[in-house]
Amino acid sequence: MTTDTLPSESPDRLRADMVAELKEGAWIRSPHVEAAFAKVPREKFAPEAPLSAAYSAQDTVVTKRGHDGRATSSISAPWLQAEMLESAQLAPGAKVLEVGSGGYNAALIAEIVGPCGLVVTVDIDPFVTERAGRFLAETGYAQVKVVLGDAEHAADEHAPENGFDAIIVTVGVWDIPWGHLLAPGGRMVVPLRFSTVSRSLTFVHDGDHFLGLNPTVCGFVPCQGAGKLPDQEAVLADGAIRLTLESGPALDVASLDQALTAERTELWTGVTVGRGELFDSMHLWIATADDRFGMFWKDPDCKSGLIEPAMRWYCPLLITHDSFAYLTIRRPQRHEAAEHRWEFGTCGYGRAGAELAQQLHDHVQTWDRDWRDHPIPTFTLYPADAAPPAPTVGRIFRKRHTQLVMTWS
Ligand SMILES: C[S@@+](CC[C@H](N)C(=O)[O-])C[C@H]1O[C@@H](n2cnc3c(N)ncnc32)[C@H](O)[C@@H]1O
Repeated sequence: MTTDTLPSESPDRLRADMVAELKEGAWIRSPHVEAAFAKVPREKFAPEAPLSAAYSAQDTVVTKRGHDGRATSSISAPWLQAEMLESAQLAPGAKVLEVGSGGYNAALIAEIVGPCGLVVTVDIDPFVTERAGRFLAETGYAQVKVVLGDAEHAADEHAPENGFDAIIVTVGVWDIPWGHLLAPGGRMVVPLRFSTVSRSLTFVHDGDHFLGLNPTVCGFVPCQGAGKLPDQEAVLADGAIRLTLESGPALDVASLDQALTAERTELWTGVTVGRGELFDSMHLWIATADDRFGMFWKDPDCKSGLIEPAMRWYCPLLITHDSFAYLTIRRPQRHEAAEHRWEFGTCGYGRAGAELAQQLHDHVQTWDRDWRDHPIPTFTLYPADAAPPAPTVGRIFRKRHTQLVMTWS
């Protein structure tokens, strides 16, 4: 039977379609990653999802939620799994650590590294390790070692003598305590948070530090346990709005909530963006320039009277303890191709709202003028006790185990 003759709703057909989409998007780039996606039955690791959802190349399947309704575990989106597996450059026989389990990604890794390889997957949640172990056994991947524990330390005793050839982290982390477990020449793929921005970075050794390659915009459920994110969150308007700041002064939630009902400042930047045009380097620039940078989220179903944020997820924000300004968009007033473009604006609330709106406005203009057409910044990672060279333009994000250096040039 060819893929054309498979029933349209069969898992085999949906799997073949997913692989075709992942290849077309260049998320799958090598034959062994393709062969793994073509073989592993994704639906067996996500039995709660309809088949079409399990095989959507762009979507995650949430497998557990916390008391607040937010996901604490999921089977990640196929495009991101493919991207991270390609970045890890796994070879047959490789010894691999996966941080954060679910079973499916570990099965893909097991397919790629083959019978001579090693796959260790660690998860902090017994609900996740129980089902991951069961699904792996049922689908023929019982050789995967499923470990229950906080990955901050739990992987150490399972590391091969010379370290893992690859470490693939599948949970959003703020720091990297696994550098010592990586074999010389190995690769470590990590969705790393800095100043509330997330990028999956592929770290490779470079002398006394790591280079962080292939930055990829991504979103993962947040790390729990010892590596919990240090974020502060202000939940406003009965849960319809969330403001997130990594550190800085304690947020005064009552004042921030009250600020929403007062007069706002609205500014327009003249900076425009076209349909499908990427502008994720803007987030990196504002995070470089301003340590009040954070993220704004508004429930799209809430009719609050607020000007809509520029994007549903990862909308830039500047915030102080009692005031904030976020990025918004509108159709430009004057532009030759106005119908195909949007103009960035800023909206400020609270005592310092006007000032924050002006500063966010200025950051957007600086990004547009000086950095928009530059290559994205480079990343290096040093141990926490090292003295990394300070970038001329950039920022050092200091963490407990490491320091991430972002350099614009
Ligand atoms: C996105 S899921 C993993 C996806 C999975 N690798 C797959 O096959 O698609 C992230 C997992 O990380 C786990 N996790 C969160 N904090 C952790 C920690 N400190 N140590 C180990 N696992 C953790 C969560 O319980 C969750 O199951």
